[in-house]
Amino acid sequence: MQNSISILTSSGRSLNLIGAGHGYPLMLLHGFPLDTRMWKNQLGSLSSSYQCIAPEFRGFGQSSSESGGYSLGDLAEDIEYVRSHMAHEQQIVLCGLSMGGYVALEYWSRYPQHLAGLILSNTNPFADPPETVQNRLKTADLAKSQGTWAATEPMIPKLLSEHTLTSAPDVVDSVKAMLQATPPSAIANAQQAMAKRQDFSPRLSQITTPTLVVTSELDALAPPEQTKQWAAELPNSSVEIIPGAGHLPPLEAPQAFDKAVIGFLTKVYSEPDPSR
Ligand code: MLT
Repeated sequence: MQNSISILTSSGRSLNLIGAGHGYPLMLLHGFPLDTRMWKNQLGSLSSSYQCIAPEFRGFGQSSSESGGYSLGDLAEDIEYVRSHMAHEQQIVLCGLSMGGYVALEYWSRYPQHLAGLILSNTNPFADPPETVQNRLKTADLAKSQGTWAATEPMIPKLLSEHTLTSAPDVVDSVKAMLQATPPSAIANAQQAMAKRQDFSPRLSQITTPTLVVTSELDALAPPEQTKQWAAELPNSSVEIIPGAGHLPPLEAPQAFDKAVIGFLTKVYSEPDPSR
């Protein structure tokens, strides 16, 4: 059973999350410009063995929007707030896809003691080069002046593989629905936050948390060769490349994605769960 839960932060903002299942906690952080619907398969399949907690970042899905800007560090603090409320102060495995992966790295830098494991999916540890920063700021302006769809429609061929685009209309429709539902202010705030994110690449060798790095064969945004290169600097990691998928394997290749995640969770959580 899945529950949609709204928790109020001390500053009065409401953070929405989906909770499903019981067991060791697995927190799922969505990509941009998406929401918890990108985890719909995992919230079904993984919740038979794990407590899945999928929060929505500020302004995305049902979480309340932010009138001012924020940093990815602020989003990591929201995640800690959710962990302390939902995971009964237990350690978690934190799985972040793309923008969710940037936030997961911020979380690691603040709360490594709360992590039993990290899953960095279709993401990278680098800060943006100047040209990407400029493009993000243009997209933020476009969202504010011309609306969500003008800013997000051009992303579709980067988010999904050609194979998904031609053979999985249901996946294409669910991605379009998420893109269309995201308010312009959420797009602008997230682009600005990602544009000023820090570079974690010099610190990869310090990440001793067990880490699974996932990307997909056809992901142009997190290409396999580049991903394998930076992942090799993580001292306690393994890499999985999902065949046939683009940037969103949880939707495009859910069975292969789940298999990689379950293999990792089984290793990380090898001790019996005292709460079960
Ligand atoms: C995402 O999927 O979250 C985005 O590709 C992240 C980004 O724009 O860097």
